Amino acid sequence: PKLGKSNLRTKSQLVPQASSFKVAVLGAAGGIGQPLSLLIKMSPLVSAVHLYDVANVKGVAADLSHCNTPSQSLGFTGESELANSLKDVDVVVIPAGVPRKSGMTRDDLFNVNANIVKTLVEAVADNAPDAFIHIISNPVNSTVPLAAEVLKQKGVYDPKKLFGVTTLDVVRANTFVAQKKNLKLIDVDVPVVGGHAGITILPLLSKTRPSVTFTDEEAEELTVRIQNAGTEVVEAKAGAGSATLSMAYAAARFVESSLRALDGDGDVYECSFVQSDITELPFFASRVKLSRKGVEAVISSDLQGLTNYEAKALDALKPELKASIEKGMAFVHKRM
Ligand code: NAD
Ligand code: LMR
Repeated sequence: PKLGKSNLRTKSQLVPQASSFKVAVLGAAGGIGQPLSLLIKMSPLVSAVHLYDVANVKGVAADLSHCNTPSQSLGFTGESELANSLKDVDVVVIPAGVPRKSGMTRDDLFNVNANIVKTLVEAVADNAPDAFIHIISNPVNSTVPLAAEVLKQKGVYDPKKLFGVTTLDVVRANTFVAQKKNLKLIDVDVPVVGGHAGITILPLLSKTRPSVTFTDEEAEELTVRIQNAGTEVVEAKAGAGSATLSMAYAAARFVESSLRALDGDGDVYECSFVQSDITELPFFASRVKLSRKGVEAVISSDLQGLTNYEAKALDALKPELKASIEKGMAFVHKRM
């Protein structure tokens, strides 16, 4: 019979492909972890999704396992099962940790989430040292440098394989620009650089593809909306946490891009917060080219030919981003 067009019923998903990868989600019982695990299970490139959480995640894994996509879903609950959840995985995604409530900054989450990320990255270093690591837990501007220091201490740091997930900023920028300019959403691509908190989120609207022109007022209005989009959701959820569904969607896109790169696709670009030398800061979000080895190239050309507004915003974000990076790094050494 002729297969329908729906993604859920394509032939490639009924028959596992030659290259298939294992993905672990740490924090899989949470608001992001559950829909993210579902989206990962739908990928034709995935053979298994491992769901780990300190809360009981066996029910979520059992629930997912009934979806007739080729990959398996397995649940791992509690620290005694953490090592097994990481066995043979190619990509580890970390959305574990507490989310913001109204009135909080992402940095207010540091004390709780730094400990969680440290523990989990130590386990990744011991059990999956070659995996790509995607950090979602906030504050990303600090948790990624923190993770790098943990991996260095363990002697397994590969800067090409550690990523802060900033895809949601790009997803938001694309959505808001397409709405404002009446463009076909699928075509719009806005690079977002800097970091992932407040003014450190810098959409480079002048580099939007396809080429679009913005008045100064439009550029400022869109930039501020993109920078505050996380807070927009936190306030709308009124005490029930922060973005989960759009985050899961964005993180699934970043996982899929990573898997395509691991599968040998030579044309994969995403924005991510990575170790970088395109500015004086040791970590910086920008477009990166992905390959089997991780970051193949950090793209610096987007930082050339900025508008005055963008150039000023880039200067303005650096002190805050520098302090957040240093805070993350210091956390690891303070505790030794
Ligand atoms: P949530 O509270 O719904 O879920 C978090 C999950 O983490 C829970 O299931 C909890 O049991 C689990 N967890 C806690 N400690 C753990 C540990 N040591 N090991 C494993 N699991 C552990 O929160 P959420 O809404 O899913 O958000 C999670 C994190 O993602 C927050 O820090 C939030 O700020 C962040 N976030 C980041 C972005 C981004 O763009 N990078 C976007 C949205 C949210
Ligand atoms: C977001 O951008 O939605 C996340 O970083 C969550 C938050 O706290 O805003």
